[in-house]
Amino acid sequence: MHSFRYVGQELYCEEVPVSSLAKKHGTPLFVYSQTTLADHFQRLDSALAPLDHLICFAMKSNSNLAVIRTFAELGGGFDTVSAGEIQRVVAAGGDPSKCVFAGVGKTEEEIAFALKQGIYSFNVESEAELARISRVAVRLKKIAPVAVRVNPNVDAHTHAKITTGTYENKFGIQFEHIEAVYARAAKLPNLRLRGLQMHIGSQLTDVEPFRKAVEKVAPLVSRLNARHGFDFFSIGGGLGIVYRDALASGSPAWWKTPEGRKILTPQSYADTLVPLLKPLGLRILLEPGRFLSGNAGVLVTRVEYIKKTGKKNFVIVDAAMNDLIRPAFYDSFHEIVTVRRKGGAKVSSDVVGPVCESGDYFAKDRPLPKVGEGDYLALLSAGAYGSVMGSNYNSRALPAEVMVKGRKSALVRRRQEIPEIWGNESVASWQGR
Ligand code: LLP
Repeated sequence: MHSFRYVGQELYCEEVPVSSLAKKHGTPLFVYSQTTLADHFQRLDSALAPLDHLICFAMKSNSNLAVIRTFAELGGGFDTVSAGEIQRVVAAGGDPSKCVFAGVGKTEEEIAFALKQGIYSFNVESEAELARISRVAVRLKKIAPVAVRVNPNVDAHTHAKITTGTYENKFGIQFEHIEAVYARAAKLPNLRLRGLQMHIGSQLTDVEPFRKAVEKVAPLVSRLNARHGFDFFSIGGGLGIVYRDALASGSPAWWKTPEGRKILTPQSYADTLVPLLKPLGLRILLEPGRFLSGNAGVLVTRVEYIKKTGKKNFVIVDAAMNDLIRPAFYDSFHEIVTVRRKGGAKVSSDVVGPVCESGDYFAKDRPLPKVGEGDYLALLSAGAYGSVMGSNYNSRALPAEVMVKGRKSALVRRRQEIPEIWGNESVASWQGR
């Protein structure tokens, strides 16, 4: 469920017309609905009520301080992947003791920082990392809570760039090696073997791969728990969202694919997994990112030009691949709607940005209402892996971000000033001033 809908002819975010935000703050502009963020969290939280659980928001999907604060206030924890992300949690008033720290390349400095912050657990990706965490913990006279990430070798059938649960990729430790790794880890000083973690991939719209992975890993968790005295099992993130028909998914008919197939819901996820997880008697951690933030955000952009060629109708907008890279990078589909509802025949259009790359597009051959210069468009489902993957490519300033709650709206990231882009650069000393 989300809070973007037409009221009359106008697209609203909750009770605020999106056009008023675009006029006030300029475009490109990310708009987030706080009610939607909270709604997604609470749906998942209540579906999992039969389990002792902690939802750790994968903040790599959206790390705006206001978004972090929203989940912190709901009692959530955070799945972090760098010292920078842990610092963001602290800056947003979140609790580092509810942070898990994942990633294959943690540096000594990052490990030391996380230990000093008293994080919940390291999600460890290799034996070399276990040894390093132990060494740093000894030096700092701390006990490091760790969970090894198991790679269950279950194919999540998702996009090649976001699948993680098979032996083809760099994540986790092979299922068959895990017990031996824990046995060796138990001999390392200053480690507390606190749990086991897994994550099989992202944008999973079917519960089956989750069921397969949990069924495969749960007996391993039981055995390890008996030996090492665990207190949690993290089943990762990956819950998928509706990208096609995203606007319609805000209505009660949500969670249907264009073919009308129902996709994973918090309830179907819980109904499948709770019976498998409950008997473990452990706290269950989750690391959803996209599910919580994806459909809670849109990217608003203005049409700059219409350019017709022999073959194409190009709608050139002021947002670009540097603001939302998903279409260019993964060929992802993002629904595009006009901020002012338009009737009439649809025109097959390519929506493109101003960046000097053919890959700088948001849609190809997409039937869209006829639009003209100055019209606002909204790219839906841009709340996850949107702003966070932004760059200054072509010396384009990072866009502003607004959060809406009911009738209120707040600028939660001001637009970057252009000189800030090179603010930390200088010419070499021998080049003069
Ligand atoms: N846990 C781990 C260990 C992860 O690697 C990820 C995502 C998550 C949780 C959260 O996954 P989610 O619930 O959001 O699916 N940039 C790509 C997605 C990359 C996902 C990376 N890992 C995209 O735009 O689709």
